[in-house]
Amino acid sequence: MRVERFHDLEAVSRAGAEEFARLAKASPPRVPFHVALSGGSTPKRMHEILASMGRDALPWDRVVLWWGDERTVPPDHPDSNFGMAKRTLMDPLGLTRFHRMEGERDPAAAAADYEKLLVTECGKPPVMDLIFLGLGPDGHTLSLFPGTPAVGETQRYVVANPVDSPVAKGKTVRITFTLPVVAAARHVRMLVAGPDKTHVLPRALAAPSPEVPSSLVRSPDLVWYVDEVAAAELPR
Ligand code: 6PG
Repeated sequence: MRVERFHDLEAVSRAGAEEFARLAKASPPRVPFHVALSGGSTPKRMHEILASMGRDALPWDRVVLWWGDERTVPPDHPDSNFGMAKRTLMDPLGLTRFHRMEGERDPAAAAADYEKLLVTECGKPPVMDLIFLGLGPDGHTLSLFPGTPAVGETQRYVVANPVDSPVAKGKTVRITFTLPVVAAARHVRMLVAGPDKTHVLPRALAAPSPEVPSSLVRSPDLVWYVDEVAAAELPR
């Protein structure tokens, strides 16, 4: 695991975009490059930078977009992670190779179907080329919120996870990857920025604890891109 510090969200976002391009260009030609996007607000700027780099910045024709988690809302809902990526990345670049978590459906059925697709496309365990993750102020990542069943899931790859948290706007169900998918991925990049992450980042980087699901993230190649504000309580 490596932590790279950047001045601000803009620099974190540019680093994430450049890393996406670097890894996609370095991947074997003529085979799909499977990427899972994260939701929330942090990735928006990275998506916008990728869109501004243009369609030739990386082999987009080979990129297949997935989502690490989704809210149980339709794709045109303002809270939809797919909808955010569609507006900020897919529409500007005309991207059409994607597999959407169907947040509008029964979450258990949608999770089971997504898991089948993931195994069909990426194997068992599913090996994704690149997974982007974020960090919630309560230490969650994906939709693995503290105290929820999906945090300890070791067999399934995609599940419907019941959540009751102010961070998730109350009682809801989320569709989410589980930790085995992250552990199997070739590359994982965590993007963390802003003052609401300052107190949680040290806990996320500390010894693994189920109370801080992001601290359980393991991958052969895990890099945290953090800005100075989020890193303010880390040792220099
Ligand atoms: C989601 C995300 C979630 C996100 C964190 C951080 O659906 O909300 O996938 O795991 O990465 O909540 O969100 P922000 O980037 O908005 O702080």
